[in-house]
Amino acid sequence: MDGKEELETTVLPVDAGKIGKVAAVPSQDDILDDLDIKLDEKSRDATNLRFAAEQLKHSDIPVAFPTETVYGLGADATRSAAVNGIYRAKQRPADNPLIVHFGSLKQLRDLLRPSAPRRDTQTNGHVTDGDTKDPIPDIYRPLIEKFWPGPLTIILPNPPNSPLAPEVTAGLSTFGARMPRHVLAQALIRLADVPIAAPSANASTKPSPTAAEHVLYDLDGRIETIVDGGPCDVGVESTVVDGLCDPPLILRPGGISIDQLRSCSGWEKTQIGYKNASESGSKPKAPGMKYRHYSPKALVVLYEAGKLPPTMEDLLAYSPNGGRLGVITTRQWSISTTATNNPIRQRAGAEDKCRSSSTNEDFSGFAGMLKTLRPSLESKNALQPHRVSHSGGIMQLLQIALGSDTANIARGIFSALRELDRGNVTAIFVEGIDDLEGDTAAAVMNRLRKAAEIEVG
Ligand code: TXA
Ligand code: MG
Repeated sequence: MDGKEELETTVLPVDAGKIGKVAAVPSQDDILDDLDIKLDEKSRDATNLRFAAEQLKHSDIPVAFPTETVYGLGADATRSAAVNGIYRAKQRPADNPLIVHFGSLKQLRDLLRPSAPRRDTQTNGHVTDGDTKDPIPDIYRPLIEKFWPGPLTIILPNPPNSPLAPEVTAGLSTFGARMPRHVLAQALIRLADVPIAAPSANASTKPSPTAAEHVLYDLDGRIETIVDGGPCDVGVESTVVDGLCDPPLILRPGGISIDQLRSCSGWEKTQIGYKNASESGSKPKAPGMKYRHYSPKALVVLYEAGKLPPTMEDLLAYSPNGGRLGVITTRQWSISTTATNNPIRQRAGAEDKCRSSSTNEDFSGFAGMLKTLRPSLESKNALQPHRVSHSGGIMQLLQIALGSDTANIARGIFSALRELDRGNVTAIFVEGIDDLEGDTAAAVMNRLRKAAEIEVG
């Protein structure tokens, strides 16, 4: 690691159901309920969590932890040395700003009002006498009410004399704030009692991690602690929105849809501020021509939804020496081991199961948090090897079938790219889905376009 000594990386299992008591505390006069977490002192899970929180608070080496979207690599957002540790461990370019995670609105408001720190801690951050203006811009109120805690990041002005370490914002005058709904993320922020800067816990350019083992694979020897809370529920990163501009923009698609945003007061005219299908072009791009992101070692070849699957000739072009190839199937493709021309087929009678992405649960309120932490990777996603014969010999195709449900595709896509990489494939052929179908689909395709070096459209 940069010529430095390797660290010993420990994976600490923490079962969210066993850390102690977690309860939503209803609030009558604010826009968000608070959360009450009482750790069970005797449980190993609570001890592990406390240990991780102590490291977050005091160490300059970042700690990986689960959120409902992807695993994050966290550090105290107010200490430069700690934040620098994130960039170092990930080898992330310093000009890419980090998202700051909060455990309560009070914590966020305190950060936004650094020059007039609140003395009255009993108000739980509510606006009181002599303190009339909520430092959170009004435009975000309906969003916070509806989608926090949850997979939504809002862009806020970084205040003068901000407590945030300058490395968090990478020189911008704004920062991204998010309140995760994962109980372990919430508990960690509360125990550490500082806002936590956390990008996804992958090595820079690699697919985001949706399980502790993904983090270990990328960052073994580079960090000390990974809190293992099982697989992530959403699977793609949060939606990033900017309400400081007019019209408001979606900077990164995620699980919250443009229609959901537009239904909020002040957000009716929300526009897409990222590149989508219509702009990305359909010509194959030369490998290596773009900045890599979300990319496994293997070359990713992305087929737009509805395109015919690759022929044997296409496959052989990427596997000239009989190497292994990966295939990620979603709605229509299936693999036939007896076909010598086109081993990847459109499933006979496969109906297009396009549906809106509204399979995600209601994100509002803390109460639903534990429910969403069910194990999310189904065994049918497991890797299936196929041997296909062709005139020049035998080819090995490793298939991961993500199924047709959009939420399951989102949950499994990064994991599938990583699994195939571990299977040492030279290229991964991916059956894309329709961006326009809904925002989870748009989020999946957004990540795949960045991962892909070749798009077949
Ligand atoms: O779901 C998530 O958001 C995950 C989990 C760990 O919370 N975090 C995550 O962080 O994806 P990261 O650092 O991998 O992505 C940060 C994104 C980047 O696209 C970055 O450009 C954008 O947020 N971002 C951060 N601060 C920004 C700012 N001030 N203005 C515009 N974009 C910003
Ligand atoms: Mg990332």
